[in-house]
Amino acid sequence: MDFAGKDFLRILDFSEEELHYMLNVAKKFKEMKKKGQNHKYFPNKNIAIVFEKTSTRTRCAFEVAGYDLGMGVTYLDPTGSQMGHKESTADTARVLARFYDGIEFRGFKQETVEELAKYADVPVWNGLTDSCHPTQALADFMTMEEKLGGNLKGKTLAFVGDTHNNVSNSLMAMSAKMGMNYIACGPKELKPSDEILAICQPIAKKNGAKITVTDDINKLKETADAIYTDVWLSLGEDKEKWGERIEQLEPYRVTMEMMQTARPGAIFLHCLPSFHDLNTSVAKDVNEKFGISEMEVTNEVFESKYSVVFDEAENRMHTIKAVMYLTLYGDNKGGK
Ligand code: CP
Ligand code: NVA
Repeated sequence: MDFAGKDFLRILDFSEEELHYMLNVAKKFKEMKKKGQNHKYFPNKNIAIVFEKTSTRTRCAFEVAGYDLGMGVTYLDPTGSQMGHKESTADTARVLARFYDGIEFRGFKQETVEELAKYADVPVWNGLTDSCHPTQALADFMTMEEKLGGNLKGKTLAFVGDTHNNVSNSLMAMSAKMGMNYIACGPKELKPSDEILAICQPIAKKNGAKITVTDDINKLKETADAIYTDVWLSLGEDKEKWGERIEQLEPYRVTMEMMQTARPGAIFLHCLPSFHDLNTSVAKDVNEKFGISEMEVTNEVFESKYSVVFDEAENRMHTIKAVMYLTLYGDNKGGK
């Protein structure tokens, strides 16, 4: 399997076999890291990680994975480069590609990361856009494989809440590819786009899986092996929308009852960060304005035995390392 020089922009760009392969490489790296085995394979390579939106996990995962592989890493924060205001994406891509062997980008438009990839002759990795979060989906599937016993074919992942967001889009694509049933459970106003459904449904069918879109939380009962949620307002969305979102999404908060009535052995996942208590300034503001003290998940579920959220966060690093290792392997400087 040859990934050398490829970009990692969307889950849909990869086959089921390629995605499995990436997960297996990530598991190998996890083992090596736990055993303290050196894997500084790229001492002569450097990468740039460029953020138009803020991040904790994605930034740190790329940075640590880069160091573990022996590489130099440059972090450009949302105000730290000329890109977008003084320099076009195409020009930035061609400049960065002269210095670096790979470029990560997190930002608003999917078109921006695609334009970077078009103009940079080194691999470009998508660290989240408004429409997808592919490295997150890889980590989530690695975590589910670890916690649900290997093969996920025929098992069911239920995403509850804002089912038209970037994380849900990538999870739906990944489920379809991996033959896992996917339930998008949320209010009609926030259902997945017809476009993404039209792409994913035939892939799911081919792989023996089903995608269900519903506004009924009872559909999760005795069905869901994994229940996933995400924030009700994503990075870059208008804060004025909080009131409307709370009204739409309160019935979809993940509760203990939801977990207890799902399939035996069910697990709870969240990409994080999460508003499960009042220990953040955003949660405090929302509490003052709207009177709620927990948002997409109760604190009880977040802290419960069902929750695998910190294993999931750790797996961001191992999966991102696998993506970088596979796409950087060999001499990519000849162009993509
Ligand atoms: N899950 C995730 O992408 O987290 P960050 O926004 O902290 O990178
Ligand atoms: N949907 C969230 C995911 C954060 C990791 C956002 O885009 O803010």
